[in-house]
Amino acid sequence: MSPRATDLTSSSVQNYSDQELNWIIENGIRFTGMPGFGKVETPEHIWAS
Ligand code: HEM
Repeated sequence: MSPRATDLTSSSVQNYSDQELNWIIENGIRFTGMPGFGKVETPEHIWAS
């Protein structure tokens, strides 16, 4: 995959706020392999993750 999926344990990812992570999981990252889960998961499930 290019760009490669990020190491979620890296300090740059760990420094995101809960709100920032929730936004990324809900919307995905355009033009990358990172899918948005907002259409297939409930907001409560995304927040819980
Ligand atoms: C619940 C599952 C997932 C979570 C919590 C998650 C979380 C994240 C987060 C927080 C980032 C941002 C990292 C950064 O900004 O440096 C990211 C990036 C990325 N994810 Fe996911 N992800 C998930 C599933 C997936 C899946 C299923 C794929 C592909 C099949 C994927 C591919 C990618 C890629 C390619 C990037 C890098 C995008 C870039 O370089 O800007 N992710 N992911």
